[in-house]
Amino acid sequence: MGREIGEGTLGMTTVHFDARLDDQARRERLYQGDIFVYGPTPETLAFKDFAGKMIEDAFGGLDPEMAQYGMVVEDFARLLGDLKPRFIHHPESKAHIQKILSRFGCDAAATYFEVPKLRTSTSDNYLTAGIAYAWHPHRDTWYSAPPCQINWWMPIYDILPGNCMAFHTAWWGRPIKNDSRIFNYYEWNRKYRGPALTKHINSDPRPLPKPLAPVAADDDHRIIVPPGGLILFSGAHLHSSVANATGRTRFSLDFRTVAAADLRTGTGAANLDSACTGTVLREFRSAHDLSGVPDDLVGLYEDGTESTGPGSYAAPA
Ligand SMILES: [Fe+2]
Repeated sequence: MGREIGEGTLGMTTVHFDARLDDQARRERLYQGDIFVYGPTPETLAFKDFAGKMIEDAFGGLDPEMAQYGMVVEDFARLLGDLKPRFIHHPESKAHIQKILSRFGCDAAATYFEVPKLRTSTSDNYLTAGIAYAWHPHRDTWYSAPPCQINWWMPIYDILPGNCMAFHTAWWGRPIKNDSRIFNYYEWNRKYRGPALTKHINSDPRPLPKPLAPVAADDDHRIIVPPGGLILFSGAHLHSSVANATGRTRFSLDFRTVAAADLRTGTGAANLDSACTGTVLREFRSAHDLSGVPDDLVGLYEDGTESTGPGSYAAPA
């Protein structure tokens, strides 16, 4: 994994570069708001290359980062509407994540991961809704993530300060007024997922919790890693997509993990301001054998809203 290069700070947040902590020590730091940044490894590069090949095949002869300038936006949305689920549910995507988790010291039998998401951030407000939603500041814990969720984020092509993601670290450990009470994961699965997402071009009718207080413009911290580099952060961090005006579409992938021991003990980031309901835990799969999170562990995170809709999303065949 390389030598430990050092630490930097973002506000009160410590950033570790190529840290050599074991997984448990790393999780403890992540729950305190630390961010971990890693250079590419053979395993992350293999996943990056796999994603890049799927993207390039989907766009035919067009440069994916520039394709938005040669396509009608409805066609672009349709292309992503086909590409993203194929990537997300591809068996090789799961296998790549398993290899990455092993490389990064996670105990496969005690770690669960969610299928990876492929993200696009188009430039110049070309497409910022639906299938290519431009994420406003949010915590994943406003979207039914458990307090121990860890996000793993990786760019597929070179990113720039103008098309990466931003951390709003002033809000780590501080509540911010928000409307997360509008979000229930099972209702989300029932009403807001699936092919209809590609129809949202100019507006987005989905319940998407956001801050109801201003996030200061200078509370914006950006980390640039090369393609195949990784940024690990707690799902409780306030983060967003940078408004992209670079002239290039950003392609990235991310996935989330939870550790069984932390689920059982309720260990994780403090929940200061989340009022959403439901849990995403039924989406997670064992890094060992792809089995689901045991019912007794999921049960610890149920809140009586389970009859609102499906506990996990089944993509249409
Ligand atoms: Fe997020």
